[in-house]
Amino acid sequence: MVDAFGREINYLRISITDRCNLRCRYCMPETGVKNLGHSTILKLEEFARLVKVGTQVGIRKVRLTGGEPLVRKNINKLIADIAELNEIDDIALTTNGVLYADMAEDLKRAGLNRINFSLDTMNRSKFEYISRRDNLDLVKKAIFKALELDMHPVKINTVLIKGFNDDEIMDFVALSREYPLHIRFIEFMPIGDLLFWDKDKMMTSQQIKEVIETEYQLTPNKNVRGNGPARYYKVVGGKGTVGFISPMSNHFCSECNRLRMTADGKLRGCLYAKQEIDLKAALAEGANDEELKELFLQAIDKKPARHHFDDGWGEENRRKMFQIGG
Ligand code: 5AD
Ligand code: SF4
Repeated sequence: MVDAFGREINYLRISITDRCNLRCRYCMPETGVKNLGHSTILKLEEFARLVKVGTQVGIRKVRLTGGEPLVRKNINKLIADIAELNEIDDIALTTNGVLYADMAEDLKRAGLNRINFSLDTMNRSKFEYISRRDNLDLVKKAIFKALELDMHPVKINTVLIKGFNDDEIMDFVALSREYPLHIRFIEFMPIGDLLFWDKDKMMTSQQIKEVIETEYQLTPNKNVRGNGPARYYKVVGGKGTVGFISPMSNHFCSECNRLRMTADGKLRGCLYAKQEIDLKAALAEGANDEELKELFLQAIDKKPARHHFDDGWGEENRRKMFQIGG
């Protein structure tokens, strides 16, 4: 389905839970996180049904996110149900990796095609600082497990925070040279737990790239499979790539192909814009597939041309990042 601005919408990101087993400082406070109640969150069968309806408006790719999607029970069943849909040609997962290693084989068997890990540091005490949990070893194990299972391309999302992990840029580049891993440096955005955000902690993709180029030559690489806004580069001699996601310095909205679904069944055209379409209410009223399809069309129709951070996140935007799924 092509939207009002000529964008082909074929990618659905679903936040299947707003719960998480980490407490990253830029995302959530340590305590007092108000999670959605169980009755508010859609059942996995409801997600599966909605994906099926989504295929009728052109959805071909699905990504499951959170919170942390692997804390939700029976995720394998949901993946298997989605994998059964002929129209869907790609099922991906964004995870912090903590629970992945032990679940990896079942997830693959269910039909998961590929996986993105969030990892901001490879230093144990820094990991414990930023996520407030001592889980680095589990995440490392998870990443190697994904490589072992050939979940290619295996991607790593690294939020670059000046004064925290900018001294590890070269370590991440080295990781992408040694292993077939695709490291994506993400610009730090003023969303989530704003008490931690600071504009002095931001580094643009261009600045990160310049640091890398003091040691390595980067050549553009278009061969990394994906649906997102990352720009990838090959490092000479590298098995993987490095990429940049630049929400702050470069609007990629004109190429945006996605819709987002929240755990409580709201469709959003944009991470930032506040407009939502309420699928859960429609389900509660017994809507048929045709009516649900109409709501998908409305969401596509309302998808804004571009995001405006100045719409106000913080207080004004009811939802936090972990409720939308990044
Ligand atoms: N800025 C940039 N990236 C963020 N993420 C969460 N909050 C922010 C932020 N304020 C990232 C997570 C994860 C992805 C889903 O979004 O670290 O990699
Ligand atoms: Fe959890 Fe991701 Fe938020 Fe960290 S950034 S607390 S892993 S949802």
